[in-house]
Parts: sequence; C-alpha cells; structure tokens
Amino acid sequence: MSATTTETPMSFPVHASAAPVSAERRAEVLADPGFGKHFTDHMATATWTRGTGWHDAAVVPYGPLQLDPAAAVLHYAQEVFEGLKAYRHADGSVWSFRPGANAARLARSARRLALPEVPEQMFLEAVTQLVRTDEAWVPSGGESSLYLRPFMVATEAFLGVRSAHEVKFLVIASPAGSYFRGGVEPVSIWLTQDYTRAAFGGTGSAKCGGNYAASLVAQDEAHDNGCDQVCFLDAAERRYVEELGGMNLYFVHDDGTVVTPELTGTILEGITRASILQLAQDAGHRVVERRVSVDEWREGVASGRITEVFACGTAAVVTPVGRLVSRDGELVHGTGATGEVTASIRQQLLDLQHGRAEDRHGWMHRLL
Ligand SMILES: Cc1ncc(COP(=O)(O)O)c(C=O)c1O
Repeated sequence: MSATTTETPMSFPVHASAAPVSAERRAEVLADPGFGKHFTDHMATATWTRGTGWHDAAVVPYGPLQLDPAAAVLHYAQEVFEGLKAYRHADGSVWSFRPGANAARLARSARRLALPEVPEQMFLEAVTQLVRTDEAWVPSGGESSLYLRPFMVATEAFLGVRSAHEVKFLVIASPAGSYFRGGVEPVSIWLTQDYTRAAFGGTGSAKCGGNYAASLVAQDEAHDNGCDQVCFLDAAERRYVEELGGMNLYFVHDDGTVVTPELTGTILEGITRASILQLAQDAGHRVVERRVSVDEWREGVASGRITEVFACGTAAVVTPVGRLVSRDGELVHGTGATGEVTASIRQQLLDLQHGRAEDRHGWMHRLL
C-alpha cells in the first residue's frame, strides 16, 4: 500500500480481468446498449483513510463491492457522484468533454458532503486508465458513447453520525446508445407543486445521491401523469423554476435572448448548461442568467414571447420541451417540432463532442 498526498501524482495500475466478456457478447451489447444497463470489464478504485489520504488506487475487474452492513453510506447517504462521457472520433481516437469541470464539481460536491476531495490529476488518471483498459467498449457511430460514472462512498463501518474516516472512490463505465433512437423527441414535463428538490443551505448544487432519492417520488408522479420528467420550483416561494430531475432548463425568447435560471446554490451547475451559455453567446444571442417564474414560463409560451424551451444535460445533450403539465392544466409548446435555436445548439454540441467541429474553447480532452 502506498499513501499519497494531493500533490503526488496518483497512478492506477491495471489488474486485468481473467474473465472478460466475450467479443461476441460485447458486440451484441454495443449494437443496442440502451443506457446504464451494461457495464464494462473493469472499474477504477481507490481508498481514502483519515490520516493516510488516498491509497490503493488500481483498475480492477468489475464486480460487487464488499461493504460492511454498518458502512456509513448505507445509513447516512454520505455519497457524491459525477457523469461524463467518452466519445470515439472518426479517426479512432477517444475523447471526453470538459472532464476537468467534472473533477472540479466532484470536489465541490465532496466538500459539501464532508468527503475528501479527489485531486483533478487523480480523477483524470482514473478515467483515462479505465477507458484505456476497456477501450473495446467505447462505441463508435451515431451519438453513442461510453458513459463514465465516477463516485465516492463512505465505507467506514460506524453508526455514529459524523463524517466517515474511510471512503472509496470508484469509476465504472457503461456503453450508451443514442438517447433518441428515432430522431429528437420533445419531452413532456410535470410541474410538481407538492415536492421541492433543494432549499437554501442544503445540497442542491452538490451532485449527491440524496438529492436524487428525494426527487424520485416527484418523478413517479410525473410518470403517473403521463410525463417524462419532473420540474422543481424553488423551495422558499414555490414560484421560480429551478431545474428538472436530471437536467437544466433554457428559455429562448422571440428577440433571440436565451435565458436560464440563475445559480442560487439550489441548482446543479450543469456542465452542458455552462457550455450552452458560451455557445449561445458565440452565436450572437444575448444570454441571461436570472430567476424565471413559472408564471413567466406559462405566459411567455401562451403569448409567443417564449418561442422555445429546452432541457440540457450530459445524457440527452439538448432536448426540446413539448408540454408543461400540472394540476392546473396543460400547456403545449409550439408545434412539436424542435425549435431552430434548440436544434442548432444541440448540433453544435454533438459536433464538438464527436469531433466534427473545431474545438474553439479547448473543451475536448484526449483520453486515447
Ligand atoms: C439535477 C441535475 N441537473 C442538471 C444536470 C445536468 O448536468 P450536466 O450538464 O453536467 O450533465 C444533471 C445531470 O448531471 C442533473 O442530475
């Protein structure tokens, strides 16, 4: 075991699986991977203990974790995670999109959840070594990618309520197909009026499992009402639009202004959201981060002042919103076709991520 400080570069030696998935089975999976259902042959792992810091970093065969039933994460949900993708470009090289931003967000989330920070170098090394080891799992073609899920869990066996003294960092990988198989389809959104996702001083801007656990009942309500996604309002006034269960929101106005709810500490700082702020500005749009009330949303769509609404995030990239549904009724957006600004931003992001457009902002990071 070798201990390390945050300044020492961390390497992830590979202990290769003796029983990888056969090439035939892998090809079958890659032909129709879906999302989050299949996992590659390996995972990256490292352990942190108080006093020693990070150690025992390695890429090991993918498999179940051995956790003590008293592990803190199982009781107090001391956990944070990230989501990013590896894209295969036409020349065979493999890239990720702004992974440094994911590393920085994981560090912010970790601070909020009283977990140790994973240094950026260690984060990138874990991701790179895992993708290198499981390169055969990186799909090519269409909008497919290898979804990467770095996460950190409190593994210390202790039932006292305090930050854990033993933690594990892991990265697993799962091939992902095109989010929309038959072309982009608008999503319908359920506006929850009973549940909120995050309050001031809470964990809304951290990517921690507890936020998602708390959102599931509202997501189920969305499904029960025939909707794909749930939209949360602010917890203080129940007036201002925050975000969806797993995506940020954008509103395009008839004068070309592009508006997104401002970051108040209760909204996840989406990397797609931040990238769109820049791309929209590059395209000559006025971009504004401010509070958006649900009344403004409804009135704007009804009057035509808001011409397009779209959601964004790593999984679906950019998705047009087709309907807003709540106890008070249903509001249909536009004609059901993807709006011009939505389509253009979606295409720009996809072209960049898949290596078909110039990377003017230096956002692409070569993994292999
Ligand atoms: C609650 C929430 N908001 C927004 C996003 C979008 O963030 P990103 O663009 O970094 O994927 C996600 C997805 O990670 C999310 O879970």
